[in-house]
Amino acid sequence: MLGELRAVVGDDHVFDGRGSSYVVDWTGRFRGHTDVVVRPGSVDEVREVLRIVRAHGRALVVQGGNTGLVGGGVPLNGEVVMSLTRMNRVGEPDVTTRQIEVEAGATLEAVQRAATTVGLRYPVDFGSRGSATIGGTIATNAGGVNVMRYGSTRVQVAGLEAVLADGSVVSTMAGLMKDNTGYDLRGLMCASEGTLGVVTRAVLRLVPAHEVRETVMVGCASVDDALDVVATVCGASEAIDAAELMSRRGVDLVADVVGAHRPFDAEWYLLIESSTSDRSDGTLARLLAGRDLVAVADTPARRDALWRLRDEHTASIATLGVPLKYDVTVPLRSMAEFVRVARQEVAAMDPRAEIIFFGHAADGNLHVNVVGADHDHHGAYDSAVLGAVSRFQGSISAEHGVGVAKRDWLHLSRSADEIAAMRAIKQALDPDGILNPNVLLPSEPTA
Ligand code: MLT
Ligand code: ZN
Repeated sequence: MLGELRAVVGDDHVFDGRGSSYVVDWTGRFRGHTDVVVRPGSVDEVREVLRIVRAHGRALVVQGGNTGLVGGGVPLNGEVVMSLTRMNRVGEPDVTTRQIEVEAGATLEAVQRAATTVGLRYPVDFGSRGSATIGGTIATNAGGVNVMRYGSTRVQVAGLEAVLADGSVVSTMAGLMKDNTGYDLRGLMCASEGTLGVVTRAVLRLVPAHEVRETVMVGCASVDDALDVVATVCGASEAIDAAELMSRRGVDLVADVVGAHRPFDAEWYLLIESSTSDRSDGTLARLLAGRDLVAVADTPARRDALWRLRDEHTASIATLGVPLKYDVTVPLRSMAEFVRVARQEVAAMDPRAEIIFFGHAADGNLHVNVVGADHDHHGAYDSAVLGAVSRFQGSISAEHGVGVAKRDWLHLSRSADEIAAMRAIKQALDPDGILNPNVLLPSEPTA
């Protein structure tokens, strides 16, 4: 197999993955092994690689920037790793259609930068922008800080190209605004976590880059207080891009780890950003006038400093050890109660375990990080946190995907009929089960 793969992609792009960064996820929690990492440079090479891997009875895990947080890109059982980072071309943004054509291995940051050159913006954004690739963001339907205004990745995908398990290619690269010709294969690939096909290219929607931006940090007494602020600003302005919630513990930790300055001390912090083309607006500062603990970023450097307190959460929490990460949505009306219940349940399990919350307040999306927990008992923590999510009628995966971490909890968010329908789709498109076999669907059929 190695010889056949080398003949397709070149000697330099096939190597033994043992002990490499390709076998472990970013968090360090999920570790696998592989004797083959292959790096194709074109869609034709991807097709050939798939043909060879299938012919040799092997399975395949596709990897982009390897920034996933649910173990979705790890070759747990010795699968071949196909890395798409060589396929990183970014086309010229089209200002008329407001679209850009990119290869799957292009980083999120490269696409954002290209959009900026013509006064446009790619609105998907999160801390690992420099490494996360477009293919990975599509495969996980990545969210990030601007979902409240612009939607998740699925909304931005105007077209895509994907190679299916049998080497056939599906493509909607014309990027048509209107196309009602049957099943939405493009939508199906979003959040499919590499189980249905290998995304190789995409056409992404861009939005205007409004030049007037306001960024403020607000100190809040409670989660409900923070949600009241969100309701106030969102009720009065259509220009709110982001409303990020952080706890005192999280902000203190980031400040310590990166040596950053906190604008004030509060129980909860809300980082709100708006953007508009109306120079006379000044909405945020006006709406928050009269509140205590409001820091307005009046220079780009101050804006960066406030965002740093948010962006560095993931890396700072990782300095405390490998966390158990839960990425959940709960209805806004239940968010405060969920925080209370989750804290209580984790404390009851092990008083040394600590829970750090942050997230995307307006989306009801909380990142629940349990640090200091005994990973041998992760099932008990999963059950406590995800069980509470389910009782509050939330989702066990808001944006990171199901991956390996949550596959056996899928029934908390999806009915048995829905899981059966997903299995049927998987069976139809990948009958031999060669594409990312360790993720998403529960290991045993749900009764
Ligand atoms: C974030 O919003 O920063 C990410 O989803 C990462 C994380 O949950 O750690
Ligand atoms: Zn997030």
